[in-house]
Amino acid sequence: MKFQKVKGTRDILPEEWNLWEKLLAKAKKRLDAYGYDFITTPTFERTELFVRSIGEVTDIVEKEMYTFTDRGGRSLTLRPEGTAPVVRAYLENRMIPPVKLAYFMNMFRAERPQKGRYREFWHLGVEAIGIENPLIDAEIIKMGYEILTHDFGIEGVEVNLNTIGTASERKVYRESLRRYLSQIVESLCDDCQRRLDVNPLRVLDCKVDGPKLTDYPKIYDFLEDESKKHFDMVKEYLEGWSVPYKLNPRLVRGLDYYTRTAFEFILPGFGAQDAIGGGGRYDGLVKELGGSDTPAIGFAIGMDRVSLSLQHLKEKRAPKYFIATVGEEARVYGIGLMEKIRRKGIRVEFSYEEKGLKAQMKLANRLGSRYTIIIGEDELNKNKVKLRDMETGEESLVDPKSLH
Ligand code: HAM
Repeated sequence: MKFQKVKGTRDILPEEWNLWEKLLAKAKKRLDAYGYDFITTPTFERTELFVRSIGEVTDIVEKEMYTFTDRGGRSLTLRPEGTAPVVRAYLENRMIPPVKLAYFMNMFRAERPQKGRYREFWHLGVEAIGIENPLIDAEIIKMGYEILTHDFGIEGVEVNLNTIGTASERKVYRESLRRYLSQIVESLCDDCQRRLDVNPLRVLDCKVDGPKLTDYPKIYDFLEDESKKHFDMVKEYLEGWSVPYKLNPRLVRGLDYYTRTAFEFILPGFGAQDAIGGGGRYDGLVKELGGSDTPAIGFAIGMDRVSLSLQHLKEKRAPKYFIATVGEEARVYGIGLMEKIRRKGIRVEFSYEEKGLKAQMKLANRLGSRYTIIIGEDELNKNKVKLRDMETGEESLVDPKSLH
């Protein structure tokens, strides 16, 4: 074959789209009940937006962005995530907080492709801008958990929860962690040795070194009373609603804008890429992008990973009826009948090309049609059509008006 898709991208075939359509319909209903409206932002933005938001010293900005110079000499980037663009849109459109927004958008990151990790992937995300109360933190985690478990029907989803403090609390913590890590620097992987100076928190969630750390300083001990209370309330609400969660002090997330509450939805046993969603609070971002001091929180679900975990539910759709005709008059009649059935919102197929009855029946079979409506001279004379049940092979003469 001459052309193939670019490495790390994938075709979303009809079977998968059919599944997504069902899942999204359910999720949209829930999002609506929680007060979220959908938004779509442009596929590309000024590069600076992402550098400012995600942070200069992050994997995404350092090595994963699809950045290009346009014809006007501007540096643009295909969005690697949705939070920064949504906050940009919130500011640019002068939305009045509190605002709850949802999105279903494709994202681009030049990561090393592997199972569950692609260079173009899809987020179902939400952002609640302008609310500081821990009730929204707990509510948003609950909502994400409900979408994944109740709406999508994914079994075994775990909520990993942490707080990473405010920027000033984290500054003190970062120093303490750096001191601790520099004592064991020799035992760390190459990546972490490099991270130690620029972003020691990332050592905590390193797949190699993270699990080996035991008596490292914990962020909780560096929180001031207000942050502690905020986090305690998040947990209390979750417990009150019986949303199961696991505290994970090594959860730090890979984007710099986060503050306080951080969480991930994990699918244990899913392999290296076992996070099916993640999010957290980002109280400093709106201000960083030129707005007033505004708290915010959100998450994104990785829809490609959702697909992987629901492979068995991908579905090929089939017509309910296939209309097979014999003779010109029956063909014309069949086209009219097809129109009437379609008006009822029922999927019906036809042999567009003029073929013999045998070939038409073969096509009906291949399309997986539930019934075939057969129309010939006999049927026309009787004002009836022959209905063949494709599973049992039973045939009966029916009034075409009764088809539904
Ligand atoms: P993130 O953790 O980078 O967060 O991405 C969210 C989810 O997207 C991940 O948990 C994963 O399921 C999926 N994902 C990430 N990268 C890939 C990839 N290369 N291929 C396939 N799936 C992937 C964010 O992007 C934040 N904007 C989420 C957020 C919203 N935080 C606050 N509001």
